[in-house]
Amino acid sequence: MLEIANLSVSYGRVRALDGVEIAIKGAGALHGIIGPNGAGKSTLLDVVTGRRSPSGGAVRYRGKDVTRKSVAWRRRHGMARSFQRTSIFQDLTVREQLTLIARHLGDDRLGDVIEVMNLGDCLDEKAGRIAYGVQRRVDVALALIGRPELLLMDEPGAGLSAEETLNLFLHLRDLVRDRGMAAVVVEHDVDAVFACCDVVTVLDLGRHLATGAPAEIRADARVIAAYLGSAA
Ligand SMILES: Nc1ncnc2c1ncn2[C@@H]1O[C@H](COP(=O)(O)OP(=O)(O)OP(=O)(O)O)[C@@H](O)[C@H]1O
Ligand SMILES: [Mg+2]
Repeated sequence: MLEIANLSVSYGRVRALDGVEIAIKGAGALHGIIGPNGAGKSTLLDVVTGRRSPSGGAVRYRGKDVTRKSVAWRRRHGMARSFQRTSIFQDLTVREQLTLIARHLGDDRLGDVIEVMNLGDCLDEKAGRIAYGVQRRVDVALALIGRPELLLMDEPGAGLSAEETLNLFLHLRDLVRDRGMAAVVVEHDVDAVFACCDVVTVLDLGRHLATGAPAEIRADARVIAAYLGSAA
């Protein structure tokens, strides 16, 4: 589905990503990305979704080199993203926002997205006035419009309680399986990641540290030293 090959990004003298290699397998899998602050997780999503050009390396999506394709091209071809900070417009109602994106992408199956993210009760509320946890669900719903094949999410649990985050992740896991999508999720709540992801990648200081099943990653001495030890 997605191949990240020898990817590097520099911000001046900071190497945000340094030769990162990750393969994201196909449909039905939730792939978690964890690592300390500044590890390069958001930068990785920026490059994969086309918001930032890498200084080296390539992104291949379904076998095609998309490294130079625009954000809009990728979105139209099935790659969608939700953001670390919620991207919704505070003054529009939930329905207005969903409709806006749906019209833009020519997707008329909004009912499906509303149901799957359980937004039926807040459609006519202004986005800025609904609870934070619901805003995060709106954010994911916006990314689901157009039935993406690959969904990338940056800290969907940010600002949520541990319980809310776990619920969101359980929901995402079922969604990914039911729809046969692939999803990549960056998250600091490692309990939710280990409970729900099929594969986990750890980044540290712009480098790929490890990729494996949750149990392998949890037991990896280098991962414990670089991240989990300090988080526990
Ligand atoms: N626009 C920018 N200009 C300069 N440096 C940047 C910029 N964006 C990120 N960086 C630096 O690049 C590195 C990687 O940042 P990035 O935001 O990708 O990390 P992250 O893993 O998402 O961190 P967090 O867990 O805090 O969200 C950090 O050292 C950061 O300070
Ligand atoms: Mg980040």
